[in-house]
Amino acid sequence: MAERDVLPVNEVYHPGIGNYRQIYRESLEKVDSFWERHAQILDWHKRWDTVLDSSNPPFYRWFVNGKLNVSYNALDRHVMHGRRNKAAYIWVGEDGTEKIVTYDGLFRRVNNLAQALKNLGISRGDRIIIYLPMILEAPVAMLAAARIGAVFSFVFAGFGEGALSERIEDSKARMVITADGAFRNGKVVELKKIVDEALEKTSSVGTVLVVKRTGTAIQMQEGRDIWMHDVTEDASAFVQPEWMDSNDPLYILYTSGTTGKPKGAVHGNGGYSVWIANTLKWAFDPHEDDRWWCAADIGWVTGHSYIVFAPLFLGLTSTMYEGAITYPAPDRLWEIVERYRVNLLYTSPTAIRTLIRFGEKYPRMHDLSSLRVLGTVGEPINPAAWKWYYENIGRSNCPIIDTYWQTETGGFMIAPSMALGLPPLKPGSATFPMPGVEPVILDENGHELGAGEKGYIAYRRPWPGMFLTLNNDPERFRKAYFEKYPGMYYCGDYAIRDADGYYWLLGRADEVLKVSGHRLGTIEIEDALISSKEVAEAAVFGKPDTVKGEVIVAFVVLKDEYRGDTQVVSSLRKRIREELGPIYVPEEIHVVKTLPKTRSGKIMRRVVKAVALNQLPGDISTLENSASVDEIREAIEAFSKEAEG
Ligand code: WT7
Repeated sequence: MAERDVLPVNEVYHPGIGNYRQIYRESLEKVDSFWERHAQILDWHKRWDTVLDSSNPPFYRWFVNGKLNVSYNALDRHVMHGRRNKAAYIWVGEDGTEKIVTYDGLFRRVNNLAQALKNLGISRGDRIIIYLPMILEAPVAMLAAARIGAVFSFVFAGFGEGALSERIEDSKARMVITADGAFRNGKVVELKKIVDEALEKTSSVGTVLVVKRTGTAIQMQEGRDIWMHDVTEDASAFVQPEWMDSNDPLYILYTSGTTGKPKGAVHGNGGYSVWIANTLKWAFDPHEDDRWWCAADIGWVTGHSYIVFAPLFLGLTSTMYEGAITYPAPDRLWEIVERYRVNLLYTSPTAIRTLIRFGEKYPRMHDLSSLRVLGTVGEPINPAAWKWYYENIGRSNCPIIDTYWQTETGGFMIAPSMALGLPPLKPGSATFPMPGVEPVILDENGHELGAGEKGYIAYRRPWPGMFLTLNNDPERFRKAYFEKYPGMYYCGDYAIRDADGYYWLLGRADEVLKVSGHRLGTIEIEDALISSKEVAEAAVFGKPDTVKGEVIVAFVVLKDEYRGDTQVVSSLRKRIREELGPIYVPEEIHVVKTLPKTRSGKIMRRVVKAVALNQLPGDISTLENSASVDEIREAIEAFSKEAEG
């Protein structure tokens, strides 16, 4: 990287890299004492016997036999020690209404719901699905489950009925917590209706708890559906926290892989909590009186770790926003920053690029001087977006903490550390690993690559936030992540380490898509297409997009009886929307007569993508039907002509 790409931000903040190097070295050399010390960021009911048990790889176990409760750490200890009246959340509704809940208020709400869950027969180890929009009941439900040791699985409220039922089925959930509806872009999404449909396909759920949010008319099924407000009336409830083993599961979060159904990443209580509390502190250096705003959705891991658990562990005040960032106008984010004097703002490159399109006028309408640190997550940030964020939002005065991590890693893996010493920032680089993280860049055969060489990023050792396993599938856990490079965690991304040791994350190396920062599997979309009555074959891939990072493109071959049906494309769109959710709907669906295949009949998705994107298709010697390639080209040409005309 050229020297001019280094911005002078560190002259304003920490000159040089501070203690980072020393702390990082200690984290690798003295694993036990390092994590003994940093585990004290939490209150433990019983101390662990062993910091790290590596006897059964890849099932690494941290803080073995330690006991704690996550909701106790998020609430009780603050209520007892000076933060009782401090705001835990400043919540802003899509309509602009505000609700402030203190630590004591949140503590009471969590206890009420925990009591209600117990009364409804939910106990330690039971699984519950939480399918809620961005309302305060979401963190309340997560913490109430954690309090009684129930394992929750949060399903993003933008997911459709098929995605929901699949998660209910795999987790064998006994209960669903949902709302009548959700507000999104001024419209109502009928969540309860989606739950009703999903439950027709599954049998494990006995109770549905419904939060009243939109007032939408819904069907309440006798004996199954209960209003949340009817069972959380006991304002004085206190539920003794269940002391969980460090390695008992806390939650399951489903995420897309390259094959088959979404993977249920299981996070534990101890190591995960230690990891997210420390990484938030290191990377962003939040102060006691700061206002933190992680503008993600709670349904993704970013929200789990950095809207709910880590900020509460640290006793911070968070802003939480219900709706879309451009609703009612493109200055929504900036208006909230100004209104609540937000100090630390954490959002995604897609959000930034979306707002760039509306111009500088919108941030200029607001006083953003409260901002001290900015963060991004979810996908690589292109230098142009980085600079816009830095100059227009940070007024060239706030470092940008580009945090690289995954659902599976629990918390940040590579990110600049405000608290440990900020390195000079290079726009587009997530800089250096967090303490305890040892990345390596490898070629296909596992040879380590040198500076500036693009390869696969892997990790040489476990870290406390690492997921425990995949739900119901320890073998897939081993195969998907630990087989490519034995003894290492393989995460599916390309990266480069430059001559100064900075890491540059270059996107997915596999068939996983990143659409607006959301991780989606090509395979899930292909499955949904193939399972529709019209489609015989499908190939789905991601096409680069200047705002969303990638958009979804699908090529389909129709069954004979549907050839020439002009309604097919719109009915496929509708089907995907209902089945998987709006974010899965392809930007382009092309109907062709054949798809490129190998002699053994396997669809060559790589070739479809290359031809459609006008790139060299690479080795096509195994291609059986070369006419299909011309057909793809023609479909794309016809499409762009139509788009122009
Ligand atoms: C994938 C993980 C991280 C929480 C939200 C997404 C990509 C994530 C960055 C970043 C470049 C990034 C990777 C990763 N990614 N953050 N700062 N720079 N790429 O979690 O849905 O599990 O997705 O997101 O490709 O593997 P996720």
